[in-house]
Amino acid sequence: MTTGEYEPFRPSVPSELAPASRPSAPPPPAISVRHLWHRYGTLDVLRDVSFDVAPGEIFGFIGPNGAGKTTTIRAMATLLEPTAGSVHIDGHDASLDPDEVRRIIGYMPDHAGVYERITVREFLEFFADAYRIPELGVVDAVIELTDLTKLSDRLVATLSKGMKQRLQIARTLLHDPKVLVLDEPASDLDPRARIEVRDLLLELRELGKTIFLSSHILTELSDVCTSVGILERGELVVAGPIGEIAERLALQRSSSARPAPVAPPVADGAPGTTDVPVGASGAAAPVVTPGGAPIPEATRKRLKLRVLGDSQAILPMLQGGSGVLGVEAGPGGLIVLYYVGGDQYVAEVVRYLVTSGVGLVSVEPERNELERIFLEVTKGDLS
Ligand SMILES: Nc1ncnc2c1ncn2[C@@H]1O[C@H](COP(=O)(O)OP(=O)(O)O)[C@@H](O)[C@H]1O
Ligand SMILES: [Mg+2]
Repeated sequence: MTTGEYEPFRPSVPSELAPASRPSAPPPPAISVRHLWHRYGTLDVLRDVSFDVAPGEIFGFIGPNGAGKTTTIRAMATLLEPTAGSVHIDGHDASLDPDEVRRIIGYMPDHAGVYERITVREFLEFFADAYRIPELGVVDAVIELTDLTKLSDRLVATLSKGMKQRLQIARTLLHDPKVLVLDEPASDLDPRARIEVRDLLLELRELGKTIFLSSHILTELSDVCTSVGILERGELVVAGPIGEIAERLALQRSSSARPAPVAPPVADGAPGTTDVPVGASGAAAPVVTPGGAPIPEATRKRLKLRVLGDSQAILPMLQGGSGVLGVEAGPGGLIVLYYVGGDQYVAEVVRYLVTSGVGLVSVEPERNELERIFLEVTKGDLS
């Protein structure tokens, strides 16, 4: 036998047992971007951008105008051959297998134009034909999904911006793509239209789609994103699930900025602050809001609890606990807990209080970690 001709080793496992006894390979990332560089003339607009988006995520690609978001997206949509690096969509290389990638993605460009002098239904039928979609019911299904039923016979010209945006999203859904790539889907929308787009995205996620969206406005769709990538001048500053990034930053920061708390009342699993390596996270840099107001503790989180009875009496149970930065009592059984940690930590606090006999009425973790992450990882020159 010559080298290179070996049969791969196959264990003699009964075939009905084999799938259960061997864990199946994890699915490829829905989107995988590796070492992406792009140069226009002498300007490197993308510099070594790498990130993954797992299936089922809503990934927010955030950065100011000119950061390179659209350039990245065009490489993902097979419309631009990057100077270097690769993009894989559901395991397919966008440069080598662009036809397959186009089948998998639904792409909505920024400032996409619409044909104005036809109806909503005609617009979608036109694109269904262009995509050679044979099933007659698809346009109806997409119209219903995107809540355009009442508008289906209206001329596109008479639609509001928000309605047109929904129509654009409807167009990207016609070939039932697994991955949606939406460039600035919420820009220029009024608050109501933005909420409608947000709710539509959440619905599409429920249907199993992976959604990649870009935005130059931080808070625009931050409440739908499960993970983010922040791009600054062609470089990725941070990327990953929001909870994980927040936790990582919080641990880095707390390890270099705070003394260790004493007598933890919270059970195992709550992140402590004593055994974490000191991170070089630049804790001395002042953290400010976009309006310039200082944020004294950029990474601290707030948990609002309501309890039955006297909230003052409960404070000693929490004070000094692992990860507890402070605790305050308010009227009506309100307790505000400042802490460092993730969802696991909140669950531990709740369990601790309940098993201690506290009548817990509500638990409300503070929202919008994304804003805090953003302030911490960017250099402060973003919109
Ligand atoms: N076709 C082009 N030719 C030259 N420069 C371009 C071209 N397209 C974009 N750029 C430049 O590349 C940079 C990134 O642009 P873009 O990817 O559109 O950023 P974003 O979508 O984040 O606003 C900007 O400085 C922009 O001026
Ligand atoms: Mg852009």
